[in-house]
Amino acid sequence: MCGIVAYIGPKDATPFLLEGLARLEYRGYDSAGVAVTGRTGGIKVRKVKGRVADLAAAVPARFKGATGIGHTRWATHGVPSDANAHPHLDNAERIAVVHNGIIENADELRAKLTADGAVFRSETDTEVLGHLIAAHAAEGVELEEAVRAALGKVVGTYGIAVLDAEQPDRIVVARNGSPIVLGIGEKEMFVASDVSALVRYTRQVVHLEDGELATVRADGFRTFTEDARTTHRQPSTVDWEIDSYDTGGYEHFLLKEIHEQPGSVERTLGGRLDERFATAHLGGLNLDARELREIRRVKILGCGSAYYAGEMGAQLIEELARIPAHSEPASEFRYRNPVIEADTLYIAVSQSGETYDTLAAVQEVKRKGGRVLGVVNTVGSAIARECDGGIYLHAGPEISVASTKAFTSTVVAFALIALHFGRIHDLSPADGRRIVSALKALPDQIREVLAQSDAIAELAAEYADSEGMMFIGRVRGYPVAREGAQKLKEISYVHAEAYPASELKHGPLALISPELPTVALVPDDELLDKNLTTLGEIKARSGRVLAVAHRRPEAKLADHCILVPKSEPELDPLLLNIPLQLLAYHAAVALGRDVDKPRNLAKSVTVE
Ligand code: AGP
Repeated sequence: MCGIVAYIGPKDATPFLLEGLARLEYRGYDSAGVAVTGRTGGIKVRKVKGRVADLAAAVPARFKGATGIGHTRWATHGVPSDANAHPHLDNAERIAVVHNGIIENADELRAKLTADGAVFRSETDTEVLGHLIAAHAAEGVELEEAVRAALGKVVGTYGIAVLDAEQPDRIVVARNGSPIVLGIGEKEMFVASDVSALVRYTRQVVHLEDGELATVRADGFRTFTEDARTTHRQPSTVDWEIDSYDTGGYEHFLLKEIHEQPGSVERTLGGRLDERFATAHLGGLNLDARELREIRRVKILGCGSAYYAGEMGAQLIEELARIPAHSEPASEFRYRNPVIEADTLYIAVSQSGETYDTLAAVQEVKRKGGRVLGVVNTVGSAIARECDGGIYLHAGPEISVASTKAFTSTVVAFALIALHFGRIHDLSPADGRRIVSALKALPDQIREVLAQSDAIAELAAEYADSEGMMFIGRVRGYPVAREGAQKLKEISYVHAEAYPASELKHGPLALISPELPTVALVPDDELLDKNLTTLGEIKARSGRVLAVAHRRPEAKLADHCILVPKSEPELDPLLLNIPLQLLAYHAAVALGRDVDKPRNLAKSVTVE
């Protein structure tokens, strides 16, 4: 997805802009650009199709300015090209704009601006903003007023940063559906769409709200609404470690994040387990025991892996709390005019806290009077702020596009929610203690799985050139299969399908052949015999089987096996998923893929 950075202060803006854009590369992009207000007036722009390194190579040494904006673009309107890259200028080259989001009435605005004499140089929706702001920037009009007036004509989503050659003492930024964060320095200010771009320079940040603008000057900022009312925003402190934004000696962020899981799970659990009463303390839910007992259903909403983590969460809640629970893609829910019930608890799941579809689903629930909790990793993110309460994962920043540690921490967070709900319903103290002990054991058990990374790499090399892979699991194993298939296809581009093992004979068994191996989740639980029968059915059709199991199946049932330590049955899915992360990672490496930035994907999908 697109990224924004901006700087104003006594230093030269360009080095920060280029470094900040490099830090946003993980979000996925196809072109990059920067603009600075020159010391002798005017605006200088460089933009290229390609990588931030290509942009850095195209920026001459004399490209300096104390005020600047930068952008990484992920094409929505128009192909990736130099001309379509941001920043975009008006015809007088007075105003420069970078924009994340989509202007829905761009065609209509473009036609009107063209009739008024504007000459467009790109196919983007963003370019209308430059011309529109310029049209309002008459003599004596403050830049913030011109931006506010222009945005009043815009329908759509945006995070923007605007430069004015005639008012180089400020940058004006605005947010509506696409994040903008201000970073407060010593007589200098930073702006970014994601804190990772500015955390090396300052930990003091302000997240703009939707519908809010800010005038940013070297010595401070002023925030206000689209109807010009001043808002008062207190900075918050970013507590994520700077090291999280480096690969720390690992070949890829993804491998680092997979290996960080013992620590990230410890942080998700930190201070939340109550051994005395065999329950979990979740202060941020903002729901007392009486309110919780009135909940009749739980509906979990998220996209992609967050949705699959929600499926595991729904099973945990049903099993431990005996409350009917269901996970649904937020991207579907928001479009189907869902029935919102007062006695249903809605839980939104998002690593980034900025996924537009999930945010829109939360807003839809709230509009209709529903109550929404968030299970979110990014503190202060839009979804976290929109929810009535919730749990932060504390997994630390996740840079690689494919979610691993945030996925695992989300499932752990759901185990805590399920335990908490269960213990105020009819989960016995003995069962509560069983889950508490199993949760405490998880970090060491994850370490045991991670120790098998080299062996899993050898298996991955053996299976990577398959024409596709089938992932199967039963009941608790099915969401594991879905997430395993998602991870493999996302980063290795190997086609992968997930099925409930019980459904195989109702259709997909026709696909089984030596060219389409099956990854089978085979936990040692009450469905073990059923799973072994399915393996027999696959082997009888010359299928190859890689079992992920607690006990090695007989050689005639599985060609290979990855052994996983046993937890309590309700928590087994969490551990069964870890080898599938390593399998996907090593398959992607074996196939020479761009592991951290897979093609066509972005880390957080902030557009519809
Ligand atoms: C996960 O590997 C994917 N990159 C993707 O499915 C992701 O989980 C989804 O886009 C939701 O993101 P979020 O958790 O930031 O909302």
